[in-house]
Amino acid sequence: MSEVVNYTREGNIGVITVNYPPVNALSQAVRSGLVAALEHGQKDAEAKVLLLVCEGRTFIAGADIREFGKPMQEPGLPAVVEQFENSDKPVVAAIHGTALGGGLETALGCHYRIALSSAKVGLPEVKLGLLPGAGGTQRLPRLAGAQKALEMITTGEFVAAKDALAFGIVDAVDESNDVKAAGIAYAQKLADEGKPVRRVRDLTDRIEADKGSDVFDQFRSALQKKARGQLSPFKCVDAVEAAFNLPFAEGMKRERELFMECMDSPQRAGLVHAFFAERQVSKVKGLPKDTPVRDVSSVGVIGAGTMGGGIAMNFANVGIPVTIVEMKQEALDKGLGIIRKNYENSAKKGRITQKQVEDRMALITGSLNYDEFKNVDLVIEAVFENMAVKKEIFAKLDSVCKPGAILATNTSTLDIDEIASATNRPEDVVGMHFFSPANVMKLLENVRGSKTSDEVKATVMAVAKKIKKVGVMVGNCHGFVGNRMLHKRGAEAMALVNEGATPQQVDKVLTDLGYPMGQFAMADLAGIDVGYRIREEMRNAGEDVAPSWMDKLAEQNRLGQKTMAGVYKYEEGSRKPIPDPEVERLIGDFRKEQGITPREITDQEILERCMYVMVNEAAKILEEGIADRALDIDVVWIYGYGFPAYLGGPMFWADQIGLDVILAAVEKYHREVGADYWEPAPLLKQLVADGKKFGDL
Ligand code: 3HC
Repeated sequence: MSEVVNYTREGNIGVITVNYPPVNALSQAVRSGLVAALEHGQKDAEAKVLLLVCEGRTFIAGADIREFGKPMQEPGLPAVVEQFENSDKPVVAAIHGTALGGGLETALGCHYRIALSSAKVGLPEVKLGLLPGAGGTQRLPRLAGAQKALEMITTGEFVAAKDALAFGIVDAVDESNDVKAAGIAYAQKLADEGKPVRRVRDLTDRIEADKGSDVFDQFRSALQKKARGQLSPFKCVDAVEAAFNLPFAEGMKRERELFMECMDSPQRAGLVHAFFAERQVSKVKGLPKDTPVRDVSSVGVIGAGTMGGGIAMNFANVGIPVTIVEMKQEALDKGLGIIRKNYENSAKKGRITQKQVEDRMALITGSLNYDEFKNVDLVIEAVFENMAVKKEIFAKLDSVCKPGAILATNTSTLDIDEIASATNRPEDVVGMHFFSPANVMKLLENVRGSKTSDEVKATVMAVAKKIKKVGVMVGNCHGFVGNRMLHKRGAEAMALVNEGATPQQVDKVLTDLGYPMGQFAMADLAGIDVGYRIREEMRNAGEDVAPSWMDKLAEQNRLGQKTMAGVYKYEEGSRKPIPDPEVERLIGDFRKEQGITPREITDQEILERCMYVMVNEAAKILEEGIADRALDIDVVWIYGYGFPAYLGGPMFWADQIGLDVILAAVEKYHREVGADYWEPAPLLKQLVADGKKFGDL
């Protein structure tokens, strides 16, 4: 037998066991092992029913993603699944953990399926820029009908075992946690009852029922909005529709063609890069895997504003009590009110129950007194960006908090070491930079100061996981990784408007690339005062920050969405940015004041200046060791700023454009625009000279 798949017999049940840690992915070895074990079972005269089951933490979690983009090695998965379906002896799949992608497709090739109640099933290929390519688009609709199959295949969302039972995807659910015993008992029952093989490909009821339905067009039009710019979700609909219009064998051929179109697309490459990058970032360079982690079972938050409130929610969501301290009762009441409103809204949308609203609110306490932080394990400061205020707060925390408590700041730009210098325990001070809205955005940029201890670094990475964020460890500098790049893009976006572009033109170029919103719509969301304060802070520190039309917005109290006017104007109850002639006038006046004659600016120039400026800055960030790897920067942008994952992140994107093309443009803008940040990064020059990419580092 193969090393990863073996065949044994228990009474009259032939047991095929996959054992390929960590997730039993369908590598070539597993595929050929499955075929060999199945053949063994066919020949074993004592075996009446065959059982497919997996060792370890999960049933097969899909194709082996590491094999994508390489030449396919026989046997192909569709053929393996077909062989299981062709078996003359009934085959049962017993599912635990997650049966995903090719894993679920293999189970659908079996004649019966039983799942532990804790198990989940799904076809998440779309999240990798693919569609199910081993019969999933043809077999799932035969069990679950068009609507459910389209939902699962176009979203990639997992379905719990009991729902899978209701949808007809599995035939039985077992409450135990012993998948092998449950599988054998179920197989035995089928053997005793003399149940015949039941091939999904031959089922026609659901196909007949949904043939000609308009559900396919409904999905297509919904995707126009939800999956703008993406290829695979639309191909998923085409493939599922083929199950209803074509005989099974032809439907399989159609699925293969569509699958290969997706497999060969750059979007697939980008999404697979993002998949592995997300997993890599948890392995921090230079931080040993066995670094001890401190227990964090209570948290303090300073500031009940938008950020502080959002941060607190993350902890309450996972059952960790949080104390929020504010300066004034009124601000505290307002903040707690907003948190409740956010939870109530989630409950209205059916995302959580009313009981969960109350349970989570019960975990959040407000106070005006720092003494409440005496016993907490972690405090996160989330007040506005002002160094003097932050230092005062940290000195106070140092005197109140117990030894071993982690003192974190949510600053988005300021020097962690200077903040830490206000305490006698700089080793316990760290940055935990959440992204707005903090209860939604998945990124947590953890910033190490020069004295932050390994234990504290490991703990904040573990905290990220605990609160279901993607933690990325970065170094200390103005703006860290994300905002340092964003500020350069922001400066260019502002300059482009100075020179003649409109804010909406700049934003459209960015949203056309795939960003969920442009630079200026984002500024309105975050608050125009945030950028204004940062620029003022820099001016106070003696830096040369050019005057800007955006400062004038702040001075006129056009602070963005919260005042219903910023770069754009907003209508009551809507977040849709509307271009405002008043702002156009303000920009016109500013140009006159500065003696600028506006010129026509092309979309290509906007794209290059907004994107290449970030790539050039990112190369400097890498060189300085602020980011450990290019992939860390990609993950920061995908999860912190909604950079489209199908482009793989800005560094992966840059590699596709070609670093030589980017360097030539950077050199041109350095000459023409002249700002210091256009100075070409030495690393970028080096990579171009060596004919290398960021991905080669
Ligand atoms: N292929 C190769 N490696 C995989 C893998 C896969 N399908 N799925 C997970 N891994 C690896 C991860 O990279 C990680 O490796 P590392 O330890 O070296 O970083 C390790 O397995 C553990 O993964 P996670 O850290 O993600 O573990 P979790 O327990 O958090 O999650 C999981 C487990 C739910 C299975 C999650 O890994 C997952 O969602 N995997 C991807 C599933 C998927 O997309 N399957 C479809 C593949 S495409 C397909 O099947 C095509 C077919 O239709 C032809």
